[in-house]
Amino acid sequence: MSFTPRAAWADAPDPLQAAVADALGTVVADHTDLHGGMSPGPAAALRLADGRTVFVKAMSTEVRAHNHLLVHRESAVLDLLPQSVPAPRRLATVAWGPWIALVTTWASGAAGGLWTDASIDAVADACRTTSVHRAPDGLRPVVERIFDFDGWERVVATGPTDEWEMAYADRAADLAAGWERWTAGDALVHRDIRADNTAVDPATGTATLLDWAYAAAGVPWLDLAQLAADIVGTGHCLGGQAATDRAYLLIQTLPTDAARFVVALTGMWRIRAATTQDASLPTISTWRRERVQALRPLVTRLITDLTGTA
Ligand SMILES: Nc1ncnc2c1ncn2[C@@H]1O[C@H](COP(=O)(O)OP(=O)(O)OP(=O)(O)O)[C@@H](O)[C@H]1O
Ligand SMILES: [Mg+2]
Repeated sequence: MSFTPRAAWADAPDPLQAAVADALGTVVADHTDLHGGMSPGPAAALRLADGRTVFVKAMSTEVRAHNHLLVHRESAVLDLLPQSVPAPRRLATVAWGPWIALVTTWASGAAGGLWTDASIDAVADACRTTSVHRAPDGLRPVVERIFDFDGWERVVATGPTDEWEMAYADRAADLAAGWERWTAGDALVHRDIRADNTAVDPATGTATLLDWAYAAAGVPWLDLAQLAADIVGTGHCLGGQAATDRAYLLIQTLPTDAARFVVALTGMWRIRAATTQDASLPTISTWRRERVQALRPLVTRLITDLTGTA
């Protein structure tokens, strides 16, 4: 999934490209632009003269200051992660004028397509491996990395817009309430699990989690709940019903608050689709609306389970 064509690495300023090669101590022999992810900045596979392939992404404050901050933050986060966390390793961070570039080890299998049962299992394992770790000092509490979880409350306040919302928004708002408390914890969480932020190596079947800018200290089940929501939001290769069933089963293995998390996360997409415009990501509102629609059967089921009424 990509919102906007990413810039080409070849169009990044020459001094930035030169600084990257310099920091890596070699010459870039060739590169391939990548198209997944959220940011309009370039992301590429760099093939180096010494035989390595590495990942680079770059952003300018003049293009999108928020993404520049995220690259900067991710760079710091990667240095805090223990070796046993399934993450790329940071190789270099370089700045040139308003630009920043982050170079990491290459993770094979970053396809960003639909979920399969195998990729769900691999990513779920990677999430569990991650959350076994205590969050390193230096990571912020997850309350600072979660936004708009009062989405359903705001829908109730501004008026439901269709029959589903008239039937369910009230209960959804009640279930999301208190999220600051029930998401708190001291486990390491990635907090942005989506198919396009994972790579499943076809050779080993194991997953690497990518894009660590939102990593935080929180409850250990948080990434699995986010995975469940993304199985439905991104979709499963066997279709929408399979996605909902896989997600529901995964949530059943977690504490009840994980179901509340999925309800609240859907409310976040719902309110953001209606209220947040972004000129540099013109299709993001459509993407969010489609997620909310796709998640309705799952969220209906979770609300029914949690409140005891259909
Ligand atoms: N280490 C890596 N190895 C191989 N491919 C990667 C790696 N990291 C990311 N990718 C691929 O590049 C895409 C973009 O990378 P990433 O998710 O880090 O950036 P982004 O979503 O644009 O994030 P940001 O908000 O930081 O700009 C990913 O969707 C994935 O397909
Ligand atoms: Mg990403």
